[in-house]
Amino acid sequence: MSGHILAIDQGTTSSRAIVFDAGMKMISSAQEEIKQSYPQPGWVEHDPDEIWTTVVNTARKALANANVPVADIAAIGITNQRETTVVWERKSGRALYKAIVWQDRRTAEVCDSLKADGYEKLFSAKTGLLLDPYFSGTKLRWLLDNVDGLRERAEAGEVCFGTVDSWLIFNLTGGRVHATDATNASRTLLFNITEGRWDDELLGLLRIPAAMLPEVKDCADDFGVTDRDVFGAAIPILGVAGDQQAATIGNACFKPGMMKSTYGTGCFALLNTGRDCVASSNRMITTIAYRLGGKTTYALEGSIFIAGAAVQWLRDGLGLISQASESGTLATRADPNQQVYVVPAFTGLGAPYWDPEARGAIFGLTRNSGPAELAHAVLESVAYQTLDLLIAMRKDWGGHHIETVLRVDGGMAASSDWTMQRLADVVGNPVDRSAVLETTALGAAWLAGSRAAVWPDHEQFGKAWACNRRFQPSMEEAERQTKIAGWRNAVSRTLSGAQ
Ligand code: G3P
Repeated sequence: MSGHILAIDQGTTSSRAIVFDAGMKMISSAQEEIKQSYPQPGWVEHDPDEIWTTVVNTARKALANANVPVADIAAIGITNQRETTVVWERKSGRALYKAIVWQDRRTAEVCDSLKADGYEKLFSAKTGLLLDPYFSGTKLRWLLDNVDGLRERAEAGEVCFGTVDSWLIFNLTGGRVHATDATNASRTLLFNITEGRWDDELLGLLRIPAAMLPEVKDCADDFGVTDRDVFGAAIPILGVAGDQQAATIGNACFKPGMMKSTYGTGCFALLNTGRDCVASSNRMITTIAYRLGGKTTYALEGSIFIAGAAVQWLRDGLGLISQASESGTLATRADPNQQVYVVPAFTGLGAPYWDPEARGAIFGLTRNSGPAELAHAVLESVAYQTLDLLIAMRKDWGGHHIETVLRVDGGMAASSDWTMQRLADVVGNPVDRSAVLETTALGAAWLAGSRAAVWPDHEQFGKAWACNRRFQPSMEEAERQTKIAGWRNAVSRTLSGAQ
């Protein structure tokens, strides 16, 4: 059998499809942006139909560009923006509301009231997560409470809930399969990550009918075959993982103690903790890194909501640059004597602060501050936020061996050497940029390819991982400490309690 794999990467801002050959080389790709809707302050929605059509369009384009017969595609791997919540009619496959995106903050009050009732410990112990609007559970609760007739229909088994992977699997299989994988399930606030099942007690607390939940499978598993109408052949779907977990796999972080950080819209750092399901004492979250052969590998995760999105703000909001890749060049022109800090809390602050009400702030402006100082501060904020995560993770898993090297990928890692150098300087450790920048898609493809037995096992795959460039830290320690102290001060003044 040919070893070609189609990877579908449905992200927050675009849908992408990539065809890899048997040698795990990318041979074609296609991408389409998806529209972001902000119907009210703090709300973020996508159109589920647009998610689906852009996935089909890009997959068809990538297949056509690859110039390989569809029958030669051994399997499909899916990776996706996580937590984003979709509900649809089981019978017709019709979406019943817009997709509520992971960044959406509309359920901050539900989270607050559950916290006030003392439930955060219970949710954390069972799911590894915190009570924050980020996760799917309270978004689904909001839909059940606010969409006319949805609760009754969900109780009658007429409605399906899913994260984006489930929505795509359902559509790709012509409505035959309603499933998800363990990594996506672990982001819902409904899944017991130590017992590996939906948790009845949490479903009861959030008033969510079990009948609407997908079946949870391993990441490399049988997710059905595509309906012939979609690509003209029945292609097996054999790999599924949330995008950050897929990037962990694509970066070959298979050993406990290995760490990766992906710079897309947000930034997500994952530390592989092996079979150790570590309960964080430092406001990190515990998540499933992957589940293979029924065995769960855990990770500590730090999630930052705004990284590349802050560069988009420089471009689209302020008009200071015309392309994201110009931000590093602009930053090099900044006056080194100015200490400007941007805290990009545009949609609240994620780990380790978890403050949905915080909003962005700029500190240290002088009459001489201009575009270069702002660009400099925005890019540095990504490095400081990463440092906050690494410190928390090291405390949480103290006593274990943690690699000093941080593997990085994602659009911002690819486009800005300046930011990656500053990252190494601020975290004080080497930063390795992956040679394959499509690590997320590669991770999903590996799940499917290894399951189809046409790609190597994880050890061989890990050996094939290559570094494109290592960034060595070069900042004087005294300067580093002064800068970090300035960041801490800026964040403390940005938190909602301080305003
Ligand atoms: O948890 C949200 C994350 O999965 C989104 O990733 O790459 O679409 O910004 P990305």
